[in-house]
Amino acid sequence: MKIRKVVFPVGGLGTRFHPITRAIPKEMLGIIDKPLIHYAFEEAIAGGIEQFIFVTRQGKNSIEDYFDGMLLDYEGKSGAPKCSFCYVRQSEPRGLGHAVLCAKNLINNEPFAVMCADDFIYHPKSCIGEMIKHYDGANMAAVMTVPREDVSKYGILDIESEQGNIVKAKSVDEKPSIEAAKSNLAIVGRYVLSADIFEVLEKLKPGVKGEIQLTDALLEMIPSVGLVGFKFEGLRFDCGSKMGLLAAILHMANEDKSLSAVMDRFCRTHNTYK
Ligand code: UTP
Repeated sequence: MKIRKVVFPVGGLGTRFHPITRAIPKEMLGIIDKPLIHYAFEEAIAGGIEQFIFVTRQGKNSIEDYFDGMLLDYEGKSGAPKCSFCYVRQSEPRGLGHAVLCAKNLINNEPFAVMCADDFIYHPKSCIGEMIKHYDGANMAAVMTVPREDVSKYGILDIESEQGNIVKAKSVDEKPSIEAAKSNLAIVGRYVLSADIFEVLEKLKPGVKGEIQLTDALLEMIPSVGLVGFKFEGLRFDCGSKMGLLAAILHMANEDKSLSAVMDRFCRTHNTYK
């Protein structure tokens, strides 16, 4: 099924990166020379996405400026991505589910992708592109196995069955305790969703942390639409956390031939990482 549109929710506060995120959006933090949001953009383009809907808010204008500048760089050159950009505002950060709901009027009743740019996925192809290939109408979320002690940071699947890299869920729970978690298969920030989710999000009450949780909408839709997890290939870095961003920077520096000499020198001196 062709998925043309992606929602980029960039309305979060990024408090784990204070003080820098008081003035710079988390999504504009850099891995070497490109901001996180650019990597998500490239992944989406490689996955066949044509329309980008940013759910933004006060203080995030540099994201719009960045993509204006990127398109200017392509002017008169071949290879420009064929895509369009729209921006809607989330007046206050009321959670990921609420951010997705803000994009409702730009989706027009067709299935769509959601990508959280702070989850950087280093993938041989395109994680969202692979998800789109496997999408068959059931809501889909990218999933990965996490250590048991980390389950309370994620939406966790209760598994009904597994076939290849597709996991059918019978339930999903946002940030469960270690004792309550039904598995250690965790959702990360890539989704392909039915537009029916907007009706559910509109009626949803705040959940964990007093926020409108996307996971709660996915749970409510299991009887009607279904929910599957997609076990993706590649490496995921949680760039919403300092450790994750640092690991992503080190990984990408190591992959870059022009920087690996610096990495080698650093690691010899410090006897670490590489
Ligand atoms: P996070 O849970 O990482 O929240 O959001 P956050 O506010 O960005 O960061 P911390 O926890 O305060 O450090 C996951 C994704 O959902 C988006 C974020 O921008 C990020 O891409 N989001 C979250 C919104 O767009 N709006 C919200 O109200 C909340």
